[in-house]
Amino acid sequence: MNSDQKISSLLRKNIRNMKPYSSARNEYSGNAEVFLDANENYRSFFTVPVNRYPDPLSRELVEKISRWKGLEPENICITNGSDEAIDLIYRAFAEPASDNALIMPPTYGVYQVFAELNNVETIRVPLQEDFSIDVEGLSILFDHRDFVHTLKLLFICSPNNPTGNAMNKDDIAGLVQSFPGIVVVDEAYQDFSSSPSCIDLVKDFQNLAVLQTFSKAWGMAGARVGMTFSSPDIIQVLHKIKYPYNVSKLSQHAALEALDKREEVLRGIEEIKNSREQLAHSLKELPYVEHVFPSDANFLLVRVTDADKLYEELKHHGIVIRNRSSQYMCSGCVRITVGSPAELDRLIETMKKIQL
Ligand SMILES: Cc1ncc(COP(=O)(O)O)c(C=O)c1O
Repeated sequence: MNSDQKISSLLRKNIRNMKPYSSARNEYSGNAEVFLDANENYRSFFTVPVNRYPDPLSRELVEKISRWKGLEPENICITNGSDEAIDLIYRAFAEPASDNALIMPPTYGVYQVFAELNNVETIRVPLQEDFSIDVEGLSILFDHRDFVHTLKLLFICSPNNPTGNAMNKDDIAGLVQSFPGIVVVDEAYQDFSSSPSCIDLVKDFQNLAVLQTFSKAWGMAGARVGMTFSSPDIIQVLHKIKYPYNVSKLSQHAALEALDKREEVLRGIEEIKNSREQLAHSLKELPYVEHVFPSDANFLLVRVTDADKLYEELKHHGIVIRNRSSQYMCSGCVRITVGSPAELDRLIETMKKIQL
C-alpha cells in the first residue's frame, strides 16, 4: 500500500462516521472506591469475582503482551479469539455487496464464512501445487481494472490450515507492500513453526494485521483470547467497533496467568513438535497412507487411499479426525491434530487394524 494512503480512506463510510459506544468503564479511569456507574451487582456468587464488568480494553494483558512481543500497547488489540478479529476486520473495511476479499484455498474456512456473513464476495487465488502463495497470480489481480477499487482484504494463513506449511516471509512482505488494502496474516499456529513470524513487519507497514491466539500452543481454546498486532490506526478501528466487553474477566485473568508460565508452555510446544515428527513417521509406515505433508503446525495433513472410509472407521472406534477430502486440492486428505502421546498411540494402534 502506498505509504501516504491513510487507513481511514479504506474504512467503510458508516464505520468512519459512527460514534462508538462509550461504556461506564471506558469513561472512568482513576482510583475510586465506590462503583455505582455500571448497574452491576455488588455481590459475586461465583468463586472468582465476576460481578464487575471486565476492562473493555484488557489493558493489563495488553501491557504484558507488549513487553513480551516488543511492540507498543497501541499496536495490540485483544479479542474473543482470533475469529472475532477476522469478523471485525471484515466489518470495518469491506463494504457489503460491493467490496472483495482475496482468499487462497485450501485455507481456514472462517475467511469464507465471515465473508458470506458480511455479504462480501471473495476472490479465490488458490495456493500453488506445493501450497505456496501464487504471488504472480495475486499481483496480476491487484492491478486488474475490475477489482482495483474493490479489493479491500487479503487473508494469508501462515502456517496454513489445513496444509500445515508456513508461507515465505519475503513473499508476504512483498504482498503487503503492493496490496491496495489490508493484509491479514493469521499466525494461529506460529508457535509450532520454525519459520519467522511476520509480527515485526507491523512496525513497517500500516496496512498489515497479524493475528495470534492463546487457543493453540497456549492450551486455552476454551478461554477465547486472540491478539491482533497492527498499526495504531487499525487497532483504534478494532477498539471502536468491537463489543464493549468482548473478553471476559475470567479469560483476561487466565491469559495473564498463562503468561507467567511461559517456560512450561515452551516445553509443551517442544513436546508437540517431537510428537508431530514421531506421528509422521508412524503414519508413513501404514500401507494406505500415500503422503504425509510436512507441517509447521500442531497437526498433519495426510493423504490416504480412502479418506471417507478412514474417517468413518476411526469414528467407529471413538476417534475423531477431520476429513478434509472435499477441500480444494485436498482430495483423499485427512487432518490429524497432534494429541497427547497416549492419544496418538491409540490412534496408530487403531489405524494398524483398519484396512481401507
Ligand atoms: C488458522 C486459524 N486461525 C484462527 C483460528 C481460530 O482461533 P481462535 O480460537 O483464536 O478464534 C483457527 C482455529 O482453528 C485457525 O485454524
